[in-house]
Amino acid sequence: MARGRSKRRRQAPRRRPTPGRSFVATCDRGRCSRGSRWESPATILAASLRFASLVVLSPSFGGCLAGCTDSGSHEEGPNATGGAGTLGYTGGAAGNAGRAAGPAVDWSSLDRSTLRARLDPADVTMAHQQADALVEQLTLSEKLSLVHGAEGDYVGAVVGVPRLGIPALTLQDGPAGVTQLDDVTAFPAPIALAATFDRELVELWGAAMGREQRTKGVAVQLAPMINLARVPAAGRNFESFGEDPYLCAELTRAAVTGIQSQRVIATAKHFVGNEQETDRTTGSSEIDERTLHEIYYAPFEAAVAAGVGAVMCSYNRVGGTYACEHPTALADLKEGLGFSGWVMSDWGATHSGVEAANAGLDMEMPGSAWFGAELETAVGLGTVSETRLDDMVRRILTSAARIGLFEDPPVGSPSAVATSVEHVALALRAATSSMTLLKNESGALPLEGLRSLAVIGAAASAPIAGGGGSAAVRVPYVVAPLQAIEQRAGTAVTVVHTSSPIADDAAAIAAAADAALVVLGVESSEGLDRPSLDLGDSANALVDAVAAVNSRTIVVLHTPGAVLMPWLERVSAVVIGWYPGQENGHALASVLFGDTSPTGKLPVSFPASESDLPLPDSSATVSYTEGLEIGYRRLDTRGLAPLFSFGHGLSYTTFEYSDLSLNQADSAQQLQVAFDVTNTGAREGTETPQLYLEYPDAAEEPPRVLRGFSRVELAPGDTRHVVIPLGPREFRVYDPSQQDFDVPSGTYRIRVGSSSRDLRLETVLTVVGTDGS
Ligand code: BGC
Repeated sequence: MARGRSKRRRQAPRRRPTPGRSFVATCDRGRCSRGSRWESPATILAASLRFASLVVLSPSFGGCLAGCTDSGSHEEGPNATGGAGTLGYTGGAAGNAGRAAGPAVDWSSLDRSTLRARLDPADVTMAHQQADALVEQLTLSEKLSLVHGAEGDYVGAVVGVPRLGIPALTLQDGPAGVTQLDDVTAFPAPIALAATFDRELVELWGAAMGREQRTKGVAVQLAPMINLARVPAAGRNFESFGEDPYLCAELTRAAVTGIQSQRVIATAKHFVGNEQETDRTTGSSEIDERTLHEIYYAPFEAAVAAGVGAVMCSYNRVGGTYACEHPTALADLKEGLGFSGWVMSDWGATHSGVEAANAGLDMEMPGSAWFGAELETAVGLGTVSETRLDDMVRRILTSAARIGLFEDPPVGSPSAVATSVEHVALALRAATSSMTLLKNESGALPLEGLRSLAVIGAAASAPIAGGGGSAAVRVPYVVAPLQAIEQRAGTAVTVVHTSSPIADDAAAIAAAADAALVVLGVESSEGLDRPSLDLGDSANALVDAVAAVNSRTIVVLHTPGAVLMPWLERVSAVVIGWYPGQENGHALASVLFGDTSPTGKLPVSFPASESDLPLPDSSATVSYTEGLEIGYRRLDTRGLAPLFSFGHGLSYTTFEYSDLSLNQADSAQQLQVAFDVTNTGAREGTETPQLYLEYPDAAEEPPRVLRGFSRVELAPGDTRHVVIPLGPREFRVYDPSQQDFDVPSGTYRIRVGSSSRDLRLETVLTVVGTDGS
């Protein structure tokens, strides 16, 4: 943010491949046969560059760069185009150790603007024209009335200008569905959706939430919440998409697209540096510029590229200045990321009139303490220009026009019934997909071959659906785990239950049962961070007491994020049920009894110790000293073993990865990482292969970063060919001295696996980057 030279000036010397055995292809019209021979480094590099320039010069060229195999299996994956050809020339695929010879790409002449994700400007041209025509006709007082909140039946409201057909704006939370109103669906929390790693599902969920908002008469949904789970105990992590900027960006794109498909404006919040609740209205987040651009802006960049209509600035300060009056941050958003919509303040986060308006705040919420009479006076005095006021209004009207609110204004009402059978089915599907199996020994799960089951813990009968604060949804009902388990178990299994927190009571029923299920809940809310990741003495003692008398003890945790598990070695299985919404019990029972194989993957790391990752900072300054090393990246850098790693999640079946190849896609700059995943077990299952990139050392990145993922459903014995696209943007780093992104030259390792710590395949790629080295 602070402009200036970086202390961590990168120098990325181009690495030369070392001599070694190399597969060399003879190719004719896209068909290659491979042999192997000893190559000198010079020959390899020359061949790499020759090949690379062929690739770069020929936009429609497709070819295999490494590890090519002919696979007749089914192709799966985001943008799996199947457009890659079979031309190849070197090895370097699965199992290669070291960063020796590998294929190369030359991106040195790449236009750096392509390293940023952007909305196509053509998408806003018409809306701009419509907004401009309206701004010209608005009186000064009408313009002023559009830039602050007013009274209304919703969480926020802005008056309309009926004479010009500008509808009133109605604003409502939030990230987990419609809040404060009845007859809505209580969907799972965003952290549960993040655990699905499922873009398509997130888009459907966004669309369903948007549809409910629209039915309720809402024009602007105050979601998605895209701050990152930097602090495992942060109170709003349940509203987030987890700790990884890439995962969050991908799901943000899907959520925004879904919400806005219903003619509801989405709001990306909270911009920026709002990663904890402790002292959130006074604390100042100190984030170095590179980290800000690479980590914390990334989800907002994705929201903007997806066409998000509004951004909410946060309560906290950034580098000493309130986020809602931060000229640099707001310029980074509008000019840097190309945001054409409007910035509204969080509720009560406006602290000035003139400074905030001139810094880039476009709308005060929820009232007019600063943007009412004060702004009117300022415009009269010229301390805020009318041009700036026009810009504020134009931004609001541009988003309204682009999302279609002029031709199709919201007509719903707060009392309308918004939920539906389809939405409840989607809520169940999402909750089921999110269930994350962390441990499963001795076939503890699924629950088969039982005659009796002890169900223990308050959260089994008084179920948790979601978190607290502005995202809390009024649940019409919550299916309790106990109720659903009894239903599913039928008469064949005797189910006994206690909600007593007393360890002896729990042990008494556990001792007599074939298996014991302990269901525990961890509450979390906006406004305060969790005091600790520890479940507390009483809950831990309860699990220990049950495990001591029953060797098939299964723990289910409804938690917004990481918790410590001092009893882990003594239990057979652990399931994270997140905040699953109203269909809690049905989703859980389906997974516990094996009707569905668990598919969730951790969107946050579970550290072994509370101090391995940042704690909420209670000083005036919240220092993001870990820089780029958020979440698993920090654990990787420090060589700390997590309790459970980012991306981890088991299934009832097993998967094998094989045959990784690196291909050049049809587009000259896009690569495709292709590999096979086989279901080697006896049940159906879904695997989420993840792609991690390891930069050359000189890039000074964390050891590895997520840069792709897919989801494959497999019947027993089935193999799918998975294709994960990889373009220059995935290789970028931010250089503060140039205030721009670069692709560092050097040799990268591309790794694919089942979690950030379970990497099964790898290859290397030499990149001639944009850094001129
Ligand atoms: C929260 C926002 C929310 C707003 C309106 C604030 O306290 O931080 O996320 O949208 O209230 O309810």
